Order: sequence, then structure tokens, then C-alpha cells
Amino acid sequence: MMLTFANVSKHYDGTAPRNVLRGVNLELGPSECVAIMGESGVGKSTLLNLAAGLDRPDAGQIVFDGHDLATLDDDAATLQRRRKMGFVFQAFHVLPNLSAAQNVALPLLLNGMLMKDVPVRVSLVLRAVGLGGREHALPRELSGGELQRVAIARALVHEPHLVLADEPTGNLDHDTAMRILALLRELAQKNGAGVLLATHSTAVAAAADRVLRLTPEGLEPYAPGAGGA
Ligand SMILES: Nc1ncnc2c1ncn2[C@@H]1O[C@H](COP(=O)(O)OP(=O)(O)O)[C@@H](O)[C@H]1O
Ligand SMILES: [Mg+2]
Repeated sequence: MMLTFANVSKHYDGTAPRNVLRGVNLELGPSECVAIMGESGVGKSTLLNLAAGLDRPDAGQIVFDGHDLATLDDDAATLQRRRKMGFVFQAFHVLPNLSAAQNVALPLLLNGMLMKDVPVRVSLVLRAVGLGGREHALPRELSGGELQRVAIARALVHEPHLVLADEPTGNLDHDTAMRILALLRELAQKNGAGVLLATHSTAVAAAADRVLRLTPEGLEPYAPGAGGA
């Protein structure tokens, strides 16, 4: 398994005494795409933050690529994220003053790729997401769907082992959302990357290999029909 949650619980100080996550178990394998569904506020983003090592559980264990995340100090956790993870959060996390190519180049530069090797790799990935020729475009010149493709290119350019995607198709129309998702899956699979995807959309979730439902009692297999598919 590339990512395992064993009995993970998490609450925030100041929130209601109930836990946000309680007894969460999860196993994600390479090349597998798992969608986490659940109502707003149930803890989907919290779960992704824990998987990223951005936050720590109150109880339970999270193992990524053979490392118990609790044993990593902040520097080691940052390195794991930078080298081995890709993030697709909201499109506005694309930096507004950098071109499409510069945004996509960031993970490579942070990982110490030689400057001379960066443009070739960036062009390749931008072409793969259908943005060939748009290298110099600024985010304000791109549509929502194009921005989301920049975000996907940036998440995958350094060939991460794990892609964490939080509502990756949030504000897109249905057809664009499905195209973006298919692209994310295809590119992730090419690299053998696991994808953990949080969404409230049954249509988006249906494109995953497995769908789980997060409730205050934990993560359970999603039963289609209970709310429609
Ligand atoms: N940093 C935080 N501090 C305090 N409460 C938080 C924090 N982040 C999230 N919460 C609360 O935890 C619950 C779960 O939030 P979140 O993980 O964002 O849910 P989801 O992504 O499923 O909508 C919500 O009630 C939210 O208000
Ligand atoms: Mg959320």
C-alpha cells in the first residue's frame, strides 16, 4: 500500500466536542483512484491534509510510502510532500503573476531540477493536458477549465507517487469536469501514482475505482442508490 490510515481520529480545538474524523481506516494502492464523498464539513479536507502530513492526527497511524508520518519532523514531511506528492486544490492556487509554464515549473525548481532541463519537461506536461502553445499565458487569460488543467499539470509534473485532489473540478461545468478528471486519472496512472480525491459530486466520484463515504462514524464503502448515482 502506498497510503494507509489506521484508526485515525482528529478534532480541532474550539469545534464541537464531536471529533471531525473518528476511527478512519483507508488503504490506497499505486495507480488506484479513490474518491471520498461526504457532506460539507464532515472532514474531507481534513483527511487530505492529514494524508499530506500538513496536520497530525489525535490518534491512529498514517503510513505513506513506508513512513509513519508521525515519525517525520516538519522538514522531512515537507520533503516528502515536495518530492512524492502532487496537489490539485482549487484553481485559484495557481499563482496569478506567473505564466502557465512558470506555475508548472515550480515543483521542478523546488526539487532542484537543473534550470536547463525544466522547459522541456514543462512543455511536455502542458501539451499532455492540452495546453501546448499556452506556456506564456497568465492565469487571468485562461478559462476555468484551462486553469484547472494548469493545476493538474503542476500536480503531476514531478511524477509524484500520490496525488491529493480536493474538489478538483469544483466550479467547472459537467463535461469539462469529466474531461479534467479523465485526464488526471490517465496521467496519474501513467506514473503509477495513487489518487485520493475529495468530492461532493456523485458524477465525479463515479469516475474513481472506488468510492468511500465519510461520515462522523468513519469511512465506509459508498452504497449507490442512497442519494442517486
Ligand atoms: N483549522 C481548523 N480549525 C478549526 N476547525 C476547523 C479547521 N478546519 C476545519 N475545521 C472544521 O472541521 C470540520 C471539517 O472541515 P473540513 O475538513 O474542511 O470538511 P469538508 O472538507 O468535508 O467540508 C468543519 O466543521 C470545519 O469547520
Ligand atoms: Mg473541503
